[in-house]
Formats: sequence, structure tokens, C-alpha cells
Amino acid sequence: MFGLTPANVRHVLRLFRQGRRPAVTVYESLGEDFFLAPAPGWLNLGWWEGDGDESEAARAPERLVEVLAEPLPRGGDVLDVANGLGAQDPVIARVCKPGRLVAVNLSGYQLRTGRRRLEAAGAHPVLADAVRLPFADASFDGVISVEAAFHFPSRARFLAEAHRVLRPGGVLSMSDVTVEAMPRSLGDVAAGLAQLRVWGLRTSQLASADKVVATAAVAGFEDVRLRRCGDRTIDPALRLARARLAHPGGAPPAHVWAARVGIRSVERLRRSRLVEYVLLTARARTPGETVRLRDITMDDLTLYENLHTDPRMMAELGGPLRRSGLKRKLRRIVDEVTDGRTWYSVIVPGDDPGAAAGTVCIWRHDQDGKPINEIGWMVLPSFQGRGLATGAVRAILDRARAEGRWDMIHAFPGVTNGPSNAICRKTGFELVGRRDIDYSGRTLACNHWRLDLQA
Ligand SMILES: C[S@@+](CC[C@H](N)C(=O)[O-])C[C@H]1O[C@@H](n2cnc3c(N)ncnc32)[C@H](O)[C@@H]1O
Repeated sequence: MFGLTPANVRHVLRLFRQGRRPAVTVYESLGEDFFLAPAPGWLNLGWWEGDGDESEAARAPERLVEVLAEPLPRGGDVLDVANGLGAQDPVIARVCKPGRLVAVNLSGYQLRTGRRRLEAAGAHPVLADAVRLPFADASFDGVISVEAAFHFPSRARFLAEAHRVLRPGGVLSMSDVTVEAMPRSLGDVAAGLAQLRVWGLRTSQLASADKVVATAAVAGFEDVRLRRCGDRTIDPALRLARARLAHPGGAPPAHVWAARVGIRSVERLRRSRLVEYVLLTARARTPGETVRLRDITMDDLTLYENLHTDPRMMAELGGPLRRSGLKRKLRRIVDEVTDGRTWYSVIVPGDDPGAAAGTVCIWRHDQDGKPINEIGWMVLPSFQGRGLATGAVRAILDRARAEGRWDMIHAFPGVTNGPSNAICRKTGFELVGRRDIDYSGRTLACNHWRLDLQA
């Protein structure tokens, strides 16, 4: 009826009752020659150099995969997560020349349909969920995922899995669709809900670009880089879809009607700046030096004094403090640590249990009349450059998560303090903006970072 296939009917029924694996229903319904896909066999929006017309349509989806495959290592073992109809696997094989290429998809139908392309790429197909990858730890050098993470039941679990299966230093390259703001009108709400239903998504799967970066950092990735590029992907693909809908040829009437409604709602979401397309690359953490944290005591007075009176340590904090008064300050801190109000730890390098490299702390205080939790860290110059501060921040955040303590944590590194801002980025903090902070009677120009430990 109206050109609907049995798979289309299942899709329509799933609009009302979602079921367990909605993405499988959606992509079986789209089939292998969906008339709005830029080129047959592809299910991505493409990477466009022009405005989005037929002259570029055959090339754009392939170019998107080339862009994403480019950062992956050459000659290594590569995992392609959510490989669609397999059209991307010969492209990944050509760009990366992998020793081993494995293609994962939740849809057995898509893996079967793409069998020839997978064979041409020398790729091994695996039916699996992106959030439960059936591979050993540290078994790949690169993970690629093209335009699929918004479908995964949890980005956090996918990113943790991607990090687990990557060897240290391995590369993740992925594209994703993000949601950058709350809808501001009823029309936006209706357009957003329509898209969620059609693509079988839940609101818990929506995330902003900043949130995706932070989730990657929490999963253990370093050097996380994100590029917003809806103007090279979504917008030209919408223009192509508009042109095709004006002359739908032999496409089934029900498909044309549904596509008109769908395209109108995506155009609205783009106009309202709600949806964005992002490319993300990141590197799996290389095992840095291990650190141990122990509570600070009055026996650490020399360390505390050295940290606060050294001009190099205090350069970003308005210059060294006077030694007098520091003993009293440390006494107060030790009292707060003893009664559990403050966490203030000495950073002990894993390879030198007798050494004290610096401190890391989380404490609660009032800012603008409201209580906030703040994190801070200092590492002596002779211990810097070994990843001890990053390890210490990760260790104290891991402890906070394990003990369910501190919920939202704020950090205020100086705007010119490159290493401390990098630590915030690496450990999953989100940049909120700039603000002036009072510290020991000085005013410091700082970046404000925030991490929600409950998220
Ligand atoms: C928009 S398509 C992109 C397909 C392909 N990457 C391309 O560019 O043509 C999304 C893909 O994600 C797959 N997918 C959705 N959820 C998945 C999951 N949880 N695990 C693995 N694959 C999934 C779908 O089967 C589909 O192949």
C-alpha cells in the first residue's frame, strides 16, 4: 500500500512503540537504495565542497569517510563501528591499508547486504552492539565510526569500549550529530520529537558537542579535538534532498510524503541552531606514571611551604606567598581533612614511595554567596613534565566517583596557564567561560571549568 514494504510498516509501528533495537528497524526500513541517500549504498550525509547538488552527490559520502579515515594510523588493525551497508569499508581499506579490518554492525541485514563490499575491503564482519564490543583489550590501533554514535544506547559506554579495545596511543576518529540547545518554540519541540521518533532515538541519547568531548575525556581519551561542520554536511545534504523531493521520480508516494515532513523538520532544527554535525578525533591514553595519593599531615609543612613560596610555582597565582602564616594555614587544612570536610592529598610518584611531588585537593567554599566545590593542584618544578598532575587529578576524581562525593566540581586555572587548562580538558572538564578570582588578596584572570561527577 502506497509503496510501503513490510520493513516500512514495522518502522511506522515502531513510531508508537519503540522496541529494543530501534536502529535495526529504521535501517531495514531505509533499505539499500533510499532515494534521499546521496549515493546508492551509503547512509551518511556526505562531505560537500559545493552547495549540495547532484554533480557532487556520488562523491560526497565517500569523501566523508576519507576525511574520517585520514587521522587513523596506516598498516594497523582498524575497527569500523556501525559500518552501514559496507560502502565505507573499501574506502577505509584504501586510505589506511590496515593489517586487519573488522566491521561491526547491530544490523544483520546490513552486514548481509554489504557482504560483497566487505569482501572487496578484506573486512571481517561482526554482528555486535557498539556498547558491547566482543574484542580483547588493546586489540586495535584505530577505531572509526561514521555518523552513528547518536544511535548508540550510551555514548559513554561506546567511548569506554572504544578506549578499552584500542592499544595505548591508538586513534579514535568519528562523526556524530549533536544537539546544542533546548528548543525555544512549540514548532522546534514538534520538529525535535518528530526526528526522535523517526530515527528511533530517546532524549537520553542527545548530547552537545562539549558534552561529547567531555565524555571522551572521561573514557580515558587524550588530545580530544572536535570540529563543528554542519555547513559542510547537514546543510548541503538538505539542499540536495529538497531538489530531489521537487522531482521524486519513481519513489513510492509514502516515502516522498514522509521525507517531505522529515526534511522540513531538520531544516527547522538547523535554522534554530539546535542540531550540529561534528568530527572528533582522540588518542587512547598512554600509560603515564602511576601516582598514589595520601592525606596531607603537619609533617608535610616543608612541601607546603616549598609549593607556596617558590616564584615559579606561584607565577600564575600572583607571585610567591610569605612563609609566615603558612603553618597556620596548613594546620587548618589538616583539621578539615581529619573531619572529612576537605580532601587535600600529597601526590606520591608510583616509582618513588618516599617522595612528595605536590598536592591535589577538593574543598567547599562560598563563591558569589553560593557554596561550590573547587579542585586545585600543584606539582614541584623538579617533578613536572611526567604526567603526575594529570594522574593525581584523575585519581582524586576516580575516588570522588567511587565514593559518590562532591557532585559538581569547579576549576579556575589562570587563563595563561597552558598545562593546567590542558589537564582540565583531558580529565573531562567543560569550559564555562572566563572570570576574575580573588586569591590571597590578589585578583587573577582565570578560566572557569566545570565537571559534573553525577553525569
Ligand atoms: C546513519 S547510519 C551510518 C552508516 C554508515 N556509517 C554510513 O556512513 O553509510 C548508522 C549506522 O549505525 C548502525 N548502528 C546503530 N546502532 C548501533 C549499535 N548500537 N551498534 C552498532 N551499530 C549500530 C546502524 O545499523 C547503521 O548502520
